[in-house]
Amino acid sequence: MKIFDSHAHYDDEAFDPDREALIGTLREKGVSEVLNVGASFEGSLRSIEFAQKYDFFYAAAGIHPEYAQDAEERYLPQLEALFERPKVLAVGEIGLDYHWAENPPRETQKRVFEKQIELAMKLGKPIIVHDRDAHADTLEILRKYHPEGVMHCFSGSVEMMREILSLGMYLSLGGAVTFKNAKKAKAVAAAVPADRLLLETDCPYMAPEPNRGKRCDSSMIRDTAAVIAELRGEPVDLLVARCRENTLKMLRL
Ligand code: NI
Repeated sequence: MKIFDSHAHYDDEAFDPDREALIGTLREKGVSEVLNVGASFEGSLRSIEFAQKYDFFYAAAGIHPEYAQDAEERYLPQLEALFERPKVLAVGEIGLDYHWAENPPRETQKRVFEKQIELAMKLGKPIIVHDRDAHADTLEILRKYHPEGVMHCFSGSVEMMREILSLGMYLSLGGAVTFKNAKKAKAVAAAVPADRLLLETDCPYMAPEPNRGKRCDSSMIRDTAAVIAELRGEPVDLLVARCRENTLKMLRL
């Protein structure tokens, strides 16, 4: 089995105690590629470092909505240059997060999201979209631009899925689909066309059952894939292989 983890954060401090050793075990557990996704500017730089250090790692660079506050002055002007480095394949993660009251104002988040979509389109790169409790505004912006890319940890309904598909984007599902109460995600997993689905962990977060609540790593993607394959009534090997092909295609590898 060859697994492409399309969304991981190995720069997270949760991996500080044993990062090197853990990454060293991933390949023997069937993980053939990892896209390490930057959330902050520093995280983007770390992602690029990993892509240089490990031949099976690739990087995405972008500013998460949580860090949108001073992004326009401090980070966006420096972002484009990061894409001159090798193996930086996508702009992400970017988007809108209305879940936390302390997040930057919505108008700021939207501007930073739009500017990064414009950068991605200029560079011809796909985007990795974070949408938490912001479905309507996210869709409005995506409809305006028609960018290429993926809705990461997709949490919308089957109806929203159809809108995303009609824009030509991919959907990615992670550990949350294995949770008992994840009715919407399970319905999406069953309905999404095979050529539009990616697999991800979002590690260290979102460990799938039976490890819910623990630190996640890319090898746990098997548990997520097993649940999705069962919902779709297809062999898990086939699902994992197709999702990997989709990821390779989206990232133009
Ligand atoms: Ni993430």
